[in-house]
Order: sequence, then structure tokens, then C-alpha cells
Amino acid sequence: MAACEIVDLIGSTPLLDLTDLVEPGSARLYAKCEFMNPGLSLKDRIAIHILDTAEAQGQLTKGDTIVCASSGNTGCSFAMLGRIRGYRVTIVVPESCSQEKQIHIKSLGAKVIVADKDEYMSCGRDYARENNFFDVDQYNNSRNPDTYYKTLGPEIWRDTDGQITHFVTTGSTFGCISGVGRFLKEQNTKIRITLAEPECSNIYEHYYGKDVEKQDSKQSVKRTSSIEGSGKSSPTQCLDLSVIDEVRKVSDWDAVAMCHLVVKTKGLLVGGSSGLNLFAAKQVADSLGKENIVVTILCDSGVKYLSKLYNPIFLAEHDLPSL
Ligand SMILES: Cc1ncc(COP(=O)(O)O)c(C=O)c1O
Repeated sequence: MAACEIVDLIGSTPLLDLTDLVEPGSARLYAKCEFMNPGLSLKDRIAIHILDTAEAQGQLTKGDTIVCASSGNTGCSFAMLGRIRGYRVTIVVPESCSQEKQIHIKSLGAKVIVADKDEYMSCGRDYARENNFFDVDQYNNSRNPDTYYKTLGPEIWRDTDGQITHFVTTGSTFGCISGVGRFLKEQNTKIRITLAEPECSNIYEHYYGKDVEKQDSKQSVKRTSSIEGSGKSSPTQCLDLSVIDEVRKVSDWDAVAMCHLVVKTKGLLVGGSSGLNLFAAKQVADSLGKENIVVTILCDSGVKYLSKLYNPIFLAEHDLPSL
């Protein structure tokens, strides 16, 4: 019998060939299908690793409460695992978190607290501390990048037979890019790592040493993005800048247009950060010869954003491309 358990469905996602999105004669382009995890995003990987480690170290016992500040996906993953392993779960999300993700979390029996977008991380931390609950603290938890170092990085290396030349992905906690980047660089120092960012994020300025405050006062930098799970106003403790070779900014317009192109040409609904990743990865691939292999991440499913990125009313209200 080849049957398995729900947690066995986490990771080992397929690598999808998207080379036909790239200019003919350029690099090959592949994407890891993280939307195929049971919680429909890459975050299942860190949730099970953090939970397993906490249980092994006696930090959690059945019936305890887990608190997690999350743009939504890590919340979905912990809500799922809370059901499976018998924990209470409270997720603190920013107002921008889609209704789909909030309903996903609540349907799994977890509590959702909605906080201001600039305060939800500290709000989660305070809530956990005041109540003596287990705080996931995914933005500063070294087990987050560790997860990708141990799972996604090796999978990408194996899936490409060690031939990957470029890795492109966005960041929010920056666990994924830092863990995958570290693993890949250890295999081959020539592999180039690109962080793709929405325009409102500040890591570009941080990386290239520009003065964020002066920038903001001089030009009207867009301070919010419709792309969830992507970008930060300042680095997190999980961010390892030493593995990053380049930072690229992508507009919401280009990210969403790419999501729509994927729907039309592949019949696949992906989330906004996947569109952002693909736009930047295609730019990188278009600039390279065909001996190169570019890999990116399809971070989550588009069904988490049906009311936003695939809703004509939302698109029109936010000056985004129509479907
Ligand atoms: C949809 C989505 N894409 C990308 C990311 C970025 O992953 P990381 O937090 O590892 O930087 C996140 C994280 O919240 C996410 O939810």
C-alpha cells in the first residue's frame, strides 16, 4: 500500500518547465510548484519544521496555543497543522490579507486577529508574550531559512541535475531566498541569486546603500502593494544579504499582468508573488544564453486571491491590468 499522511504531502514539489515564456534562444526557465503543498503555499515547509523541532525540544504539548504573525500563508499552514496535531492557533494578519486566506485559516478552526500593516508583526509578538503562548516569530526564527536550506534548495539542485545557473525569488521573511541561496552557493559559487521585490519594498535601497528616508521624501514612492507575501520596509533577521547578487524591482502592474498571462497560456491560477517572481525570472532569462538555467518559485495558489487579482472590480479600482 502506497498511502501517506497529510504531512507527507509537504515538499518534493514538481519543477515546471516555463521556457516557452522566454524569448527564443534565451535561457531555460523552470518554476517549483509550491502551490501544490497541502496548505497551497511554500509555508507548509517552515510550519512543519518549526513544529517538529519545537515538539522534539519539549517546547510544545498538545492543547498549547501557537501564535503566528503572518501575511496569511504561514497562518494557513499552522492552522492546518494545529488541526492535525491538536494545538490551538491564533494568526495575526495585516489588513491587506485576502479574505480567502482569512477564511482558509478560520475554516481550520484557528482565530484570526487583523492588525495594522505596520504593526501586525509586533502585535503578534506582544500577544504571544502577554499570554505566554508559543510564538512562531517567522521573521526572526533561524528555523525558517534552515527549512529551505534543508528541503527546497536540495530539491532544486536535484531537479536540475546540478545545472541551475540562476535563482530568482521574492522575499517577505526572506527565509526562502536566504536558505535556498545559501544551499545553492555552497554547491556552486557561480550560481547567481536575484531578490525580486515590489516597488514599495525597501530592501533594494538597503542592498544598494541608498538612503531610504531621503528617497521617500524626494519622490512619492508607492508605499503599498497589491502583491501579498512580498517586500518589507526593513530587513528581517532571516535575511542573509551575503547570498544575494542582485535586487530587482517589479511593479504591481507587471506582476499581475504575468499572473494573467499564466492563466491564459497555461491554464494555471497562481498568486501575485508568483507573477512577480516570473516577471523578474523572465527578465533574467531573456538576458542570458540558452546554456543557462533559471529557476523561480510559484509560491502559492491564485485561489487565495480570487477576490483581488482575478476580480475585475478590484483590478479596476487598483489600476491593475484587466483579465
Ligand atoms: C505568497 C508568498 N510569496 C512569497 C513569500 C516570501 O517567502 P519568504 O517569507 O520565505 O521570504 C511569502 C511569505 O509570506 C508568501 O506568502
